[in-house]
Amino acid sequence: MGRFDVESFRRLLRTRVMGQACYAFDVLASTNASMHVLGRSGNPEGTIILADQQTAGRGQADKVWISPPQCNLYVSILLRPLIAPTQAPLISLLTAVALVDALRQQGVECGIKWPNDVLIQRRKVAGVLAEMEMHQDTLAFVVVGIGVNVNMTQDALQKYLGPIAQTATSLQIALGHEIPREVLLAALMESLEQWYDRLITHGATGLQPAWEARSVMHGRRITAHTTEATWHGIAEGIDQAGRLRLRRDDGVLLTLTSAEVRFRD
Ligand code: BTN
Repeated sequence: MGRFDVESFRRLLRTRVMGQACYAFDVLASTNASMHVLGRSGNPEGTIILADQQTAGRGQADKVWISPPQCNLYVSILLRPLIAPTQAPLISLLTAVALVDALRQQGVECGIKWPNDVLIQRRKVAGVLAEMEMHQDTLAFVVVGIGVNVNMTQDALQKYLGPIAQTATSLQIALGHEIPREVLLAALMESLEQWYDRLITHGATGLQPAWEARSVMHGRRITAHTTEATWHGIAEGIDQAGRLRLRRDDGVLLTLTSAEVRFRD
């Protein structure tokens, strides 16, 4: 392990835009929080910030993303897509697809749990937190935060995650060996650039089937907790906008924008 080696990452990087401007820190509160500041001061698309440790890592649904030092990837990417704010959720879907491709390239069998968790078997290995910032009615920029458990042993998971350790895993646990974070980040930047270019050039067509092809949800019995209610049923995939299609046990089809999903099987 040790500090993230920015020079070796730069040597491995094969992108035009993603990661070409790279700011690396030993410790930050949250790379997403820092990226909002860079976004507001006009930094270019594709700029990334990474930290070896976060003291206030942010997860989905206002949860904390536990970020111990020097073993994992905590990175935020700045995007300035010329899309309507209503289309911004597509960026999260796209990131999950790109993340799965980069992890599979390292030899890890993984898939997506809606909306954008990456699982190995039933355990979470990575998550995405995309936060948009508006300027009047238009989308000013999107901060895409990615956390991946890379070189954490089972003991380290237990130590840092405590009771939720059994719901999580790492690439090292899955593969039986460490992975250089520089290699993983370079692969992730490449994969993200490919999917992002495709979205910008060809629009969202193709993204939904790509997401479905990597999803572990289809046909699974799930419980979805929303702020209004808890629903039970079968996951039937997502629609074009990335909303979850849930066939309730009484046959009614629901389309959910956000929810916390648990598998029942
Ligand atoms: C999730 O809850 O699944 C999303 C986790 C996202 C964590 C990453 S780590 C880098 C970036 N900075 C943050 O504060 N959060 C994201």
